[in-house]
Amino acid sequence: MRRAASRLVSRTCSSVCVATVGFVLLLGVCLLYLPDPFSLEPLVSVSDDNSEVTLLIWMHPFGQYRKLPHCGGLYGIEGCTLTDKPRPRAQKWVWMNYESPAHTPGLWRFEGVFNLTMTYRTDSDIFLPYGYLIPRGRRAKGLQNRYARPLHVLSRSLLRPRLVAWVISNWSESQARVAFYYQLRRYLQVDVFGRAGRPLPAGSGNVVRLVSRYQFYLALENSPHTDYITEKLWNAVLAGAVPVVLGPSRQNYERFLPPPGLYPRRRFSNCSSFGRYLLMLKRNPIQLKRHLDWRGSYSVHQPSFWAEHYCTVCRAVKKTRGKATR
Ligand SMILES: *[C@@H]1O[C@H](CO)[C@@H](O)[C@H](O)[C@H]1NC(C)=O
Ligand SMILES: *[C@@H]1O[C@H](CO)[C@@H](O)[C@H](O)[C@H]1NC(C)=O
Ligand SMILES: *[C@@H]1O[C@H](CO)[C@@H](O)[C@H](O)[C@H]1NC(C)=O
Repeated sequence: MRRAASRLVSRTCSSVCVATVGFVLLLGVCLLYLPDPFSLEPLVSVSDDNSEVTLLIWMHPFGQYRKLPHCGGLYGIEGCTLTDKPRPRAQKWVWMNYESPAHTPGLWRFEGVFNLTMTYRTDSDIFLPYGYLIPRGRRAKGLQNRYARPLHVLSRSLLRPRLVAWVISNWSESQARVAFYYQLRRYLQVDVFGRAGRPLPAGSGNVVRLVSRYQFYLALENSPHTDYITEKLWNAVLAGAVPVVLGPSRQNYERFLPPPGLYPRRRFSNCSSFGRYLLMLKRNPIQLKRHLDWRGSYSVHQPSFWAEHYCTVCRAVKKTRGKATR
């Protein structure tokens, strides 16, 4: 009994010893990797040669401007020039934005900062919309010709198996387009795709391929703003579906697409009459054809993000080089 107890004690002791040795080893390893406060100094003196470093402070912390220090005088750190975004007088800054004003908060901060604007708005200095039509007969400029896709009057598009599709990524109950959808679905079948609906097929060109099976496509913008007409419209056009639009005014849409090409939701006083009209078109190919005939005379060009945008800026800068802008 006593022997058993002493064996137990010695076994306990040996495991304590192993644990202690293990702990000391671990400590040793940890100490090896602990940062040594004194190793900071040699790092500085290594670069204490004659080389010059210019450090750009891109943004002052918390946006509060502070006078930049003189590293040599204060800390004996020589060869350092601190600078905060120097702006040569001749350099032009371009404001490029493809969101709507509703999703671009805090713009007032940039008042008087930029020289040129590049947006989807026709009154931008550099105007490049999400897409545009090119009349077929006109000899378009090189870039437009290379990427423009001719539209066809598809007789088969009159016999599409499905009625209305809607692809939406940012579903929000407060949006007018969601309210419109709730109304419309009381009168006809609307197939919803995207985060809030059925999954989208994978691959590039997936939306256009999907929408090609539908007669109508809901091209509903997230907010109504001048010229804010996005790829939603052009996806419908490319797919040969008739776009049902909600966004800026009808007149605004008609600057981008011939009037028979679309159905502004606002043309109808309520969704019941609107839904009935779509169903009537579905049953009435001759009426429907009137909304697709225009296609034969146009090609569509969708500038690709962001390659064409950068290159278009470059062309614009070349044109305005040496000229004051604003
Ligand atoms: C999504 O919708 C909400 C509500 O309208 C809006 O606050 C948010 O900015 C939107 N997000 C995008 C990426 O558009
Ligand atoms: C919808 O509008 C049509 C005419 O534009 C009208 O006859 C009908 O009563 C309206 N329906 C509702 C529910 O307001
Ligand atoms: C660009 O805009 C800034 C800020 O308004 C202005 O100071 C600068 O002179 C402008 N530059 C040119 C080249 O127009």
